This record gives sequence, structure tokens and C-alpha cells, in this order.
Amino acid sequence: MALPFFSRSKNPVLERCRDDYLTKMRLKYAPYYHALGVPHGTTLPYEGHDVIMLSSNDYLGLSTHPKVIEAARNATLEWGTSTTGARSSNGSRTFHLELEERLAAFLEREACHVHSAGYLSCLTCLATFPQKGDVVFADKNLHSCMWDGLRLSHATVERFSHNNPDDLREVAAATHSPAPKILALEGVYSMEGHTCRLPELLAIGEPHGCFSIVDDAHGFGVLGRQGRGTVDHFQLNDRVDIICGSLSKSLASVGGFVAGSRDLIEYLRSNSKQTIFSAAIPPGQAAAAQAALEIMQTEPWHHERLWANTRRYRAMLQDLKLDIWGSETPAIPIVLGSKERVYIFWRALLEKGVFTVMSIAPAVPAGKDLIRTAISATHTDEQMDKIHDALVYALKKL
Ligand SMILES: Cc1ncc(COP(=O)(O)O)c(C=O)c1O
Repeated sequence: MALPFFSRSKNPVLERCRDDYLTKMRLKYAPYYHALGVPHGTTLPYEGHDVIMLSSNDYLGLSTHPKVIEAARNATLEWGTSTTGARSSNGSRTFHLELEERLAAFLEREACHVHSAGYLSCLTCLATFPQKGDVVFADKNLHSCMWDGLRLSHATVERFSHNNPDDLREVAAATHSPAPKILALEGVYSMEGHTCRLPELLAIGEPHGCFSIVDDAHGFGVLGRQGRGTVDHFQLNDRVDIICGSLSKSLASVGGFVAGSRDLIEYLRSNSKQTIFSAAIPPGQAAAAQAALEIMQTEPWHHERLWANTRRYRAMLQDLKLDIWGSETPAIPIVLGSKERVYIFWRALLEKGVFTVMSIAPAVPAGKDLIRTAISATHTDEQMDKIHDALVYALKKL
């Protein structure tokens, strides 16, 4: 027998990782994980020149707002960098409770719980409220965090066509199980920029006794009064059980939230593994989100500017006859239909100083390969002109 010094037995996992096709392609074409420098508004240095950021989710542009930066700095100086553990084991801090109270009040809910990532918050709602045997009606285009949560729940999942009330009606009618039912939706679909057809979908789910969960990561800060989100936009606050979302978009921080009735949030605190066994959001992050929430309510011009920019950008794309998949919000895809076209377009935009992100199947449905762009309140008129010129250039390259 050979000594382990001289030979290593075959390791299929190592081989699988080394030979992975996706990784090889990613490293060859390098479309992701670029290293960008210090931002000045929505401009960042990249490989020796400046690029305009057109793919971040800083919708209100608050990540560089002086009050948000100061709040994060002060909280870090006062509390340190981390509470280094889960709240179930080493306790909450007043900054957690304050942020949760403010978010709950803003969303007109009794209670709220914050996590260290939006992915965790949304995943845990789907992992914890549905149980094995329950039936979840899920929009086919839900974000990956919700699918991961559903897998952990062991519930039966019935998918319906994206944002399609007729299909939900059919799927629900064909489900004869007496088990508890849950409706899983996004407020604003992150890739497509579609606003959820919430009034119709809820009206179909309600006769089946559906418990409703809305991931409003991209509706929060964007839709509704002062940015209260999609549920508020449709004035359906009393008909949605759980709103979850992210602190890393309009709230210019990192983390996530789950808001609902006190009973539901307390249930989550005792039953959600992701809540019980994961470290708390750090002080600086919580303070940044709280400051951004305050600004949303006191400085309405960020929201106004976001929508003015969105209207201008959408009109620009439509004039250029680009397919924006019917986006209704600042999350705006440019659908090009194949990964080859997406790559050419993406490279051309980058060449002209516009930073975007490619999204190709299976991350999007086949034939919907796209460049995902998102508008911020801090995009300037001059940047809009440059974006226009870059789009014209990229179109010629196709
Ligand atoms: C719809 C949706 N839900 C949840 C998340 C996860 O949020 P986070 O990035 O804060 O973890 C995202 C992230 O992009 C998202 O688009």
C-alpha cells in the first residue's frame, strides 16, 4: 500500500469543484466579482478609469449620505464592531430593539425582527411559517432565498406562472388538500422590476385561507407612502401576514427584516433556526439602516429624484427599442435573449464606463437572458447622458 505522503486517494468532491464548467466559464469571461475603488456618488474607479454604477440597489442613494455615515460611525465607536453572537444566546441590544420598533411602526405592524442579511430574513420566513404537509403557492420567479427556505420547510410547493392570477386560480382550484395554505410573493420582482399583482393574487388566495408572505426587498423605499413598500402602495396592510425584506437596498446598510403581528414575530423567535443560531446584525449596520429610515421620512426629495431618474431612464431605453420586460420600477432589465448577446452588450457598456451585471439562464427563464440595471436617486443628468451614449454604442455592437 502506498504511503499517504506519496499518493492521495481520489477525491470526487475536489475533482468536481476543479472541473466545474460554470466556474471555468466565469473565470474565462470574468463578468462578476470585479474589484472597484472608493465611490464618489454613483461613480467608482475600475481598472484605471471611472465607471457609472448602474447595477447596485442603492435606490435612494443613501449609502453615501452624511447622516447615514455618521450614524454608523458613532454606533461603532459606542458599541464596538459586533455583538459576536446570536441574540438568543448573548442578548439583544437597545439598538436592535429601536430599529425593530421603528421599522414595525413605519410598516404599520405590531412587531419586527432584524437579521444580519436580507437573504436570512426572507429564507427564514419560508422555512419557518410553512411546515411539512402545508401547501405553498409560489410565484415561479421568486428570489433564490425563498426557494431555499421552501426546501427547508419540507412543505408541498405548487408553483404558478409569474405574476399570473389566472394561473394561481387554476393551481389553487386543483389543490384539494385540506392542509394549511401559504401564498409566497415578491412585492417587486428583483430581476423583472414587475410590481406584484397583489390585490388580485390575495383575492384568489384568501378563499383558500392562505397565509401571505411578501418579500419586499425591492419595493421598500421605492413604492408606497414615503417608501413603505408594495403592500402600502396597494393599501393592503391588513391583508398581508408577513412582510420581509432587506436593509441592503433603499436602507443603505446590510441586513434584513421580518415584520408582522406580535404573535408571528414571537413564533419566529422561538422556531426559526436562522434567527436562533445566527449572529445579530452589528451596531454600525443597524444604525445606518435606522438613519436611512429616518431620512426616508424627512427628506422626500430622494424618493422624488429616484422616480424622476427612473422615468427618464425607462423612456431612454424605450426610445432605443430595448426590451425592458415591462418593468414598472427602478429595477430595469434589458432583455437580450441569449448569453452571447448579453456578454457583447455588457462588455460594450463597460468599455464606455457603465457598470452593469449580466443575468443569464438558469438565473432567468430561458430566452430571457438580460442585463440587470437599477436606477438610483443619485444618478446625475450628466451620467444619464453618458449612459445613453453607452447604450447606443452597445446596440451597434450587437
Ligand atoms: C427579492 C430579494 N429578496 C432577498 C434578497 C436578499 O437580500 P440581501 O442581499 O440583503 O441578503 C434579495 C437580494 O438581492 C432580493 O433581491
